[in-house]
Amino acid sequence: MERTITVTVNGVSHTVAVEPRLLLVHFLREVLNLTGTHIGCDTTSCGACTVLLDGLPVKSCTFFAVQADGRSITTVEGLARDGELHPIQQGFKEEHGLQCGFCTPGMMLTAKALLEENPDPTEEQIRWAISGNLCRCTGYQNIVKAIQWAARRLREPAAAGR
Ligand code: FES
Ligand code: FES
Repeated sequence: MERTITVTVNGVSHTVAVEPRLLLVHFLREVLNLTGTHIGCDTTSCGACTVLLDGLPVKSCTFFAVQADGRSITTVEGLARDGELHPIQQGFKEEHGLQCGFCTPGMMLTAKALLEENPDPTEEQIRWAISGNLCRCTGYQNIVKAIQWAARRLREPAAAGR
């Protein structure tokens, strides 16, 4: 039997009837058409499906949509504002933090949660934060640099590209 849930996604409230077994990642991709959230492993290993739930990263492939009832979700589609890339997106662009881009949405949301909690992380702290997000392309070095770039930009906007 379906259950009606209300979830705020990227600032927009959605009230939808869903089956209790529907996973959050399928709710986002197939019900709301927000396909920026990717499915890699389906088993909580790769982090491609990471979204923010009330600001904290969750792997949406192993989280039911009904568990998000009354809560707030941020997906990669919610990062840019008024046509302007979020500093984390700019960092990935400036520092070549992506190749195929499959892991990128999850990496960016994990980075967002990290920088909100710790605006000036060490390289080790960044590597620890993204340890649940697998990338098969980049070797991680440029992802770390992208997050460092974003951290600088968020701390002091004028210092952008330093
Ligand atoms: S698809 Fe969710 S962690 Fe891999
Ligand atoms: S950029 Fe391809 S998996 Fe990370």
